[in-house]
Parts: sequence; C-alpha cells; structure tokens
Amino acid sequence: MNDGVTVDTLTEAEARAELARLAAILNRANTAYHQDDAPEIADAEYDALKIRNADIEARFPGLKRDDSPSDQVGAAPAEGFAKIAHSVRMMSLANAFADDDIADFDTSIRKYLGLGAEAPLAYTAEPKIDGLSLSLRYERGKLVQAATRGDGEVGENVTANARTIDDIPVALTDAPEVLEVRGEVYMSHEDFAALNARQAEAGQKTFANPRNAAAGSLRQLDAAITRARPLRFFAYAWGELSAPLADTQSGAIDRLQALGFSTNPLTRRCDGPAEMLAHYRAIEEQRATLGYDIDGVVYKVDDLALQSRLGFRSTTPRWAIAHKFPAELAWTWLEAIDIQVGRTGALSPVARLTPVTVGGVVVSNATLHNEDYIAGRDASGNEIRGGKDIRAGDWVQVYRAGDVIPKVADVDLSRRLAEAVPYVFPECCPICGSPAVREEGDAIRRCTGGLICAAQAVEKLKHFVSRQAFDIEGLGARQVEAFYGDDQLPVKEPADIFTLQSRDKANLTKLANRDGWGETSAKNLFQAIEEKREIPLARLIFGLGIRHVGEVAAQDLARHFLTWESMAQALDIARPAALAHRAADKAAEAERATAAAEGRRAKLAEARSRAEADCDVPTEATEVWADLIGADGIGPTMALSLSDAFANPDERAAMDRLLDHLTPIAPETRDAGSPVAGKTVVFTGTLEKMTRAEAKARAEALGAKVTGSVSAKTDILVAGPGAGSKAKKAADLGIQTLDEDGWLALIGAS
Ligand code: IVH
Repeated sequence: MNDGVTVDTLTEAEARAELARLAAILNRANTAYHQDDAPEIADAEYDALKIRNADIEARFPGLKRDDSPSDQVGAAPAEGFAKIAHSVRMMSLANAFADDDIADFDTSIRKYLGLGAEAPLAYTAEPKIDGLSLSLRYERGKLVQAATRGDGEVGENVTANARTIDDIPVALTDAPEVLEVRGEVYMSHEDFAALNARQAEAGQKTFANPRNAAAGSLRQLDAAITRARPLRFFAYAWGELSAPLADTQSGAIDRLQALGFSTNPLTRRCDGPAEMLAHYRAIEEQRATLGYDIDGVVYKVDDLALQSRLGFRSTTPRWAIAHKFPAELAWTWLEAIDIQVGRTGALSPVARLTPVTVGGVVVSNATLHNEDYIAGRDASGNEIRGGKDIRAGDWVQVYRAGDVIPKVADVDLSRRLAEAVPYVFPECCPICGSPAVREEGDAIRRCTGGLICAAQAVEKLKHFVSRQAFDIEGLGARQVEAFYGDDQLPVKEPADIFTLQSRDKANLTKLANRDGWGETSAKNLFQAIEEKREIPLARLIFGLGIRHVGEVAAQDLARHFLTWESMAQALDIARPAALAHRAADKAAEAERATAAAEGRRAKLAEARSRAEADCDVPTEATEVWADLIGADGIGPTMALSLSDAFANPDERAAMDRLLDHLTPIAPETRDAGSPVAGKTVVFTGTLEKMTRAEAKARAEALGAKVTGSVSAKTDILVAGPGAGSKAKKAADLGIQTLDEDGWLALIGAS
C-alpha cells in the first residue's frame, strides 16, 4: 500500500493490512538500529512511518497489534508515559487583560503584605512564552528527570525526550545539590514552518501552530522522533531547591543563565505598574519579529522573601500575573446556528462558520454564549453591540484570545441578506424534546430531561472518563458514545462502566468481536477499568459533573471532608439549611426589587433574616451548612448545587450505584507533619504581624482548616487585641486560645 494514502480514508481491512506492513518494517528497522547499530532506513522515514502507525492505531484502537511498533521502542511503557508526582506543585498563572488590572494587582499585593502605597515594591516583567511547561530535575548536577506539567501535581516522564533538546543542559557545574528548573518548551516560527513542510511532503499530519507542534513533539513515546524536531527551552522558574538560587527573582534568573540555561533576554526589573506597562508595550511592539510565539507578559514580585509570604491560591501564585495580549480578530460568514446540550443540560448555541484563520489557527466553530447574546442583550437586558442581533447568513467578526474558545463578537448589518430572519432560540431540548427552561437570574436555558436526556447522559459520561476525572485508558469520548448506544454492552451511567467489566467471559467476548476491538484491546480496557476502582476522592467528586463543582472545588471538598461518607452525611444534614438559604436569597431578591423602587435598601438584611427565620431549620443543619459554605474555596453557590444533586433521588441513586464499585482514597493533608494539620482554626481580633488573608493562607498551607465562626468543632482560636464574642464563646467551650505570638510560635514562624 502507498504510504501517501491518508489515514482518514482507510477502510478497516486496509488499516489492518497496513498495520501489519508497518509492524514488519518498523520492527526490522528497530532491530537494525538498536541491536545491530546498522540503520536500514533514514531517521525521517522511520519517524514518518511510526507516526503513520500511531495515527492508524488512534483511528482504530481495536486493531492495535500485540507487536505494535508504538510499544517497541523508547523508554516509556506501552500505556504511554510513566507518571511523575511533582515534588513542588506546578502552578498556573492568573490572567489580566487591561492596564487597570495591573494597578489592581499591585494594590492587592500591597494590601496582602500590609505595605503602604509609597513603599518600594519591585517586579520583573518578561514575555509569556506560548509553549508548554516542563520541570527539569537535577541531582548533584545531573539531569535525572524531566516531567510535563500534567494536572500540576502529576506529570508525564519525558526525560528521554528532554535530553534531546539542545537548550537543556544534561550536566551542570556549581548547581545546588537538588535543583528543579522550570520553563517553557517552544518551537520557533522558522522551525515550525520547516517541520510542517516536511510533514506535508511525507503525507503526515501538519500542526495548527507552533505550540501544538512543540507539544506533539515533546510528547512522543519515541525519543528519536523528538530528537528530529527542533525544540527550544526558556528557563523562568524553579521547583524544589536544596539551596536558594538568589534573594530576588531577577537574581535567580541570572543564576540560571550562569548555570547554562537560556533565559529570555526581554526580562526586566521594574519599579512599579508604570514601568511594567511600559515594558509590556515594548514587548508587544517586538512581538511580530521575535521569531517565536508569545501571548502576553508575566509580572512577578522580585523579592523572593515577599513571594514566599504571598504564597499561592489553589492553582496560581499571588505574587505573579500574566498580562495577556489583546485577542485576534477576523471576519467570515455565519453559516448556521446549532444547539449543543451540555452535561448540566445547558443549551449552548454554536456558530458554524465558513472557516477563517484567526491568529494563525483555522476556526470553523465559535460560541454564541446564550440566547440574550444572540439577541443583542446582556443578562440585565441592556443592549450589547448596539442592540444588533445575530442571524444565520450574517457576516460576523470572530474573536480569539489564546486558548479561549473563539466567539462571535460583532456583526456587519450592511452585509445582512434580505432573507435573514431573527434566530428563535428553542424552548425544548433538541435532543430529548423535554422543556428547556430558563430560571430567573440565569442566562442559560436548560433541558429539564435530566438523565433521560441522551445528550446530558453522554456528556456526563464523557466528563466522568476525562483526564482530570477517572482518566480510563482506552475509554474516551468516542468509545463512550459507542457504548451508550450499544444494546448489548450498554453504558448509560458511570456505574455501568464497572459492571461492563463483569468477571464472566461473555462481555469480554462480546467486546472483542466488536468492530475496531480485539481480544487484547478488550482485555486492556477491562484492566484499565479495574485499576480505577480505587480513586482519589477529589477525582470522584469532580467526575460526577455537578454544576459549579470544578476540579479545584472538588479538591477543596475532598480536603474538607476527607471521606465520601462524611460529605454525603453533611449534605443530608444540611439540606434544610440549604433550602432555607435559597428561600432567603429569593425573598431578599424580591425585597431588593421593591426596596430599590421605594428607596428602602435598609430593609434588605431584615428581609433576609426574616425569611431564614420563617423556615424551621434544625440547629445542627444550620451549623453543618455554615461549616460547608465557610470552608476554604466553597461558597453558597457551589454548596447549593451540590446539595441539590445529593437531594435529587435519581442522581443520588446513580451515585449510590457507582459507589458500590469504588473505594475512594482520602487526600493527604497539605502538610501532614505540621502541628496544626487537620485542626480547625478561627482568627479573630486585630493581627499585628500579618494581614488576615496572609494568616488564613499560611494556616491552610500547613493543613489547617480556617473557618469564620467558633463552634464545638473549633480546635484553636487565635485572638488578637479587640477580640470580642468569639473569644468568650471559645472560653465557654474550653477551646485552646492563643495570641498572635503564640500562634506564630506554634507554627514555627516566630
Ligand atoms: S511563571 C508559579 N513565567 O504560562 C508560576 N510562566 O498560563 C509559574 N508561561 O503554566 C509560571 N511563560 O507554562 C511563568 N515567563 C513565564 C511564562 C510562563 C509562559 C506559562 C507556564 C504557565 C502558564 C500559565
């Protein structure tokens, strides 16, 4: 068969034959190269055949051969890359888009540190490289490990691949004994264009942009392929260190450079927001001629002692921010408006566009947000785009900012066709036909079909198996869709995944006989499912796909409750208080409308407490509810959504069925060894040596739970001058009470 036949058009029989042919050629070439030291084919040809083999396997996972060349060469195991837990979490960055956000960033840092507006406070400003982050671990000067970011806690071991990158030294002199250098792997524009030309010539897939090319090249199971791809690396941060690199960020970057790393030449030290913004403009002006992609400027507090006081939020440091460049724009035809139904039933309008290149990427779909957005209104009914609505057939402006989903931003009425009609948003779910309703105050219309809606059920399943949730090897979006519609091996809800893998052989045979599957892939899938019966609690909570409960929230919930049972029990106990909270919100909202009209705002709080008092809520429910909404990262919106999900009989029954198959694993406390790990702490009164925010963040980083009110569950009250009723209540309950110095001594910070 001709190598040029594109993988997309192969029939199953052709694919099987082609995989056999590729296995024969590649396995022989491997022996020649690795064992005989006598390569028979050129590196480029080898790479091209290997990629073709992987592409065919990706399209027909069931045809993957036991002697697949994908599994033969390279350090990584057959299932992909080995996993590496980062010794220091790899963080992301908060984003800023406007100049004002930078002044706000500076203000919030000063506030957190208790610094006045005039106190000197320096930052660094440097380009934000559009690539993928990599952590390099050196021990006694030798590169021992390279890991991708992954989910920030666990990444993939790409050591063999990193060693092929010229910018990455494999040995260092005068480095700390343990040094983790972090930075960005990227591909230059020139190398990207040349790579795509080579790929096209070889009939291989081309990459949409340098970032994808860099990611695709680094994440190759065969380091030989990575070696053939021209990757580069800028160092800009670090993880674990056995000795500090310097006292300042700029000093640390200089040190990394002296050790032999490439650091970005546009890194500057700035004396405040005005200089930071001036450097942003200077970088923006050079953007087109740098020769590599950047998508903004990163500012970091220069003083490392201040960085460590500022610490981290769940996933981002308080001491850094990414100032993104404005989005890119293009105009095209809007061919049609389709509705997609998401896992929480949200009806999302999607614009189908005549493909157009926006900032180097071909865009053919864009979001239209919701029905108000299409009609030219915002959520409060005010006009947007001067009130212009959007119709199928319009000439529209598409907007794309970095990784954000492209959106339709504007419409040119002068090019509107006479026959274009206003878009009528459906009031029934296009998939299951159930009414689609829009609750007061919600911009989104939602299908009310719940689990009977195939779209919702399938989206929930896709979410359940996704990488951040159960991450079941061999069970992705495509397989989930196929199983959902399969009469013999149906998977209609998460629990079915675990009964699919029943111990009798019948299901294995059924699956092995399915198109695209074979005995090996069926066994592999069942094994992968088996491995996920033990699952970290946070992944389980996130995998349920409950509205407002994202990955970070799930981690917060897991850290707060530690076990599934205690979370479920707390939600059951707190349910009356949750309902009272919602009723009170509604009453306050109604009163707010009247109060605004009559100018009686003062009555609001009174209305809220009256409504809460009207509901007869047991004290225990109120206490458990207060504990829940006061916990780190969990607020009333998320807690209500969680409470609704657990109180819905169908959803709860589905959860119970799922839990029958699982053993959730409790999270480790952030610093299990600290004297306050697992303790519930309340701060009250004035703190003199740190701000309240800093105190809370430090306590949480040491594994403590910080709440706002004193209850029988409180372990320590830290009371500064002026502490009032909380100190008294703590004394009545016999709770340990410390002053600020006592607390600092306890955590070893005095
Ligand atoms: S600092 C703890 N500096 O941007 C902070 N990140 O959007 C670590 N990135 O995950 C990040 N250029 O992959 C930093 N000069 C730079 C960067 C940079 C690109 C990436 C990095 C990070 C992502 C966040």
